[in-house]
Amino acid sequence: VDVDVAALDKALEGRGDQPFGVMEALQDIQEQCGYLPEEAISRVSEVLEVPLIEVFRLANFYKAFSLTPRGRNVITVCDGTACHVQGARRLADEALSLLDVEPGEMTEDGAFTVETVNCVGACALAPVVIINGKYYDHVTPGKLRDIIEVVRQQDEEALANA
Ligand code: FES
Repeated sequence: VDVDVAALDKALEGRGDQPFGVMEALQDIQEQCGYLPEEAISRVSEVLEVPLIEVFRLANFYKAFSLTPRGRNVITVCDGTACHVQGARRLADEALSLLDVEPGEMTEDGAFTVETVNCVGACALAPVVIINGKYYDHVTPGKLRDIIEVVRQQDEEALANA
């Protein structure tokens, strides 16, 4: 995704004086591009006169931000202790090999990103997988394959209707 510098500059106007100006600018960019391209981060630093290292620190700190492109569907496999002992690793491997990606990488068609995180706070339901914000409990590799298939179909339908 290319950054629309003119639109970005317009969005940055007047934000320099606001306490949350940088955060809001990053949020806008994340929404528009699906991630924070390096070019946009530099521009935020320049225009809002905030040191580049500080903008990167914020971009890295908040989970809502991503520095790499993310798929339209994000599969998050919890790999905290409770999920790990219940086979989370096998779930992550299943999703990664099925979609032929590395952790955190986007599939070539832009449809999926698979990532692992630490405990999402639902240990009683372990192992847990979250897809597009929806929680799935007691997931098995077979169940995960089926869920991904459904999500893939929905994604294709959404694209066809767009
Ligand atoms: S370890 Fe997965 S929800 Fe707690």
